[in-house]
Amino acid sequence: MSLNLIQILNQENFTRDEIIFLLNLQKEEEIKQLFVKADEIRKIYCGDEVHLRGVIEFSNYCDENCMYCGLRDDNFSISRYRMSPEEIIETAKLISNVGIKTVVLQSGEDGYFDTDMIAYVIYTIKQNSDVAVTLSLGDRGFEEYRNWKIAGADRYLLKHETANPRLYSIYHNGEHLDDRVGHLRYLKSLGYQIGSGNLIGLPSQTIPDLADDILLMHELGVNMAAVGPFIPSPFTPYQNRKHGSVELTLKTMAVTRILLKDVHIPATTALDSLDNFGREKGLNCGANVVMPNFTPHPYRENYTIYSNKRGINDDPELVHKSILNRIQSIGRKISHTRGDSPKLNINI
Ligand code: 5AD
Ligand code: SF4
Repeated sequence: MSLNLIQILNQENFTRDEIIFLLNLQKEEEIKQLFVKADEIRKIYCGDEVHLRGVIEFSNYCDENCMYCGLRDDNFSISRYRMSPEEIIETAKLISNVGIKTVVLQSGEDGYFDTDMIAYVIYTIKQNSDVAVTLSLGDRGFEEYRNWKIAGADRYLLKHETANPRLYSIYHNGEHLDDRVGHLRYLKSLGYQIGSGNLIGLPSQTIPDLADDILLMHELGVNMAAVGPFIPSPFTPYQNRKHGSVELTLKTMAVTRILLKDVHIPATTALDSLDNFGREKGLNCGANVVMPNFTPHPYRENYTIYSNKRGINDDPELVHKSILNRIQSIGRKISHTRGDSPKLNINI
């Protein structure tokens, strides 16, 4: 049976084979049709507003050894830092003062920041400002997730990275995909808005693997789906591998938007690091979120997940202004709300 592009794009649901077909599109005209459809669906379900999330990378210590990541524990070439709780809280104030209504607390898996320290930071940020707090701290304890929800956290970002269980274990030192997925389900049951996501172009990964990534995020009912390219990082086992393709990343974002519909999709910094117009391209292929990095100097230079990260040496305020200009230059508006998940259907 030959698959008809227009017909598939107008379906409510996709089979795995149909997703694979869409990700394999090669003709420029057909890829364009995919992107136009994704843009249409984004407009219907999310409108023209772009939500900003101010990111604070407060610790680059990590107990894990993910094969692809520059922050892995075995990488002795980077200088490690931890911001103090006061510095984190001050940076959150700055984010709120420039009108951004979501603060993302991001770090490696760093047990030094224990349950109470993180709870204190969340609670204080929520007391100081009217912002949503997203945690992106990796796999932590179930009791910790509960405590942080009670302290006021709203969302948790934990990418599944790959939905192929065999590759998951290879990239993550024998760990199991099922455990990661179990954490996501538990976070959701606690009332967090959950974000997951994958990496495009990891060694040995195939197009059917990417189809499974999209289907897994659909099945989990994620509120945010972060699709970004793999970029090799020095002093990691994958330092000499090829980076993920910008086009395949955009196709994956587009299919994710068309199938998942009312989710948030970021135009990632990784995409912007591979292509001068990465953010604009992402926003035109289904994305509706941008996550400017507010990590202050001298820390931000050391959050080296991958090489040539865009804006790493620039001042946070400058990066933020340039992002605002770029969003407006493609005719999109900046949201002034918290940008809670459209799935929740609540008014704040
Ligand atoms: N390229 C792109 N993204 C990466 N991440 C880790 N290493 C890389 C890399 N080399 C992403 C992972 C993880 C987040 C902390 O950073 O997806 O979820
Ligand atoms: Fe640590 Fe996350 Fe990097 Fe893995 S991807 S090494 S958990 S910071």
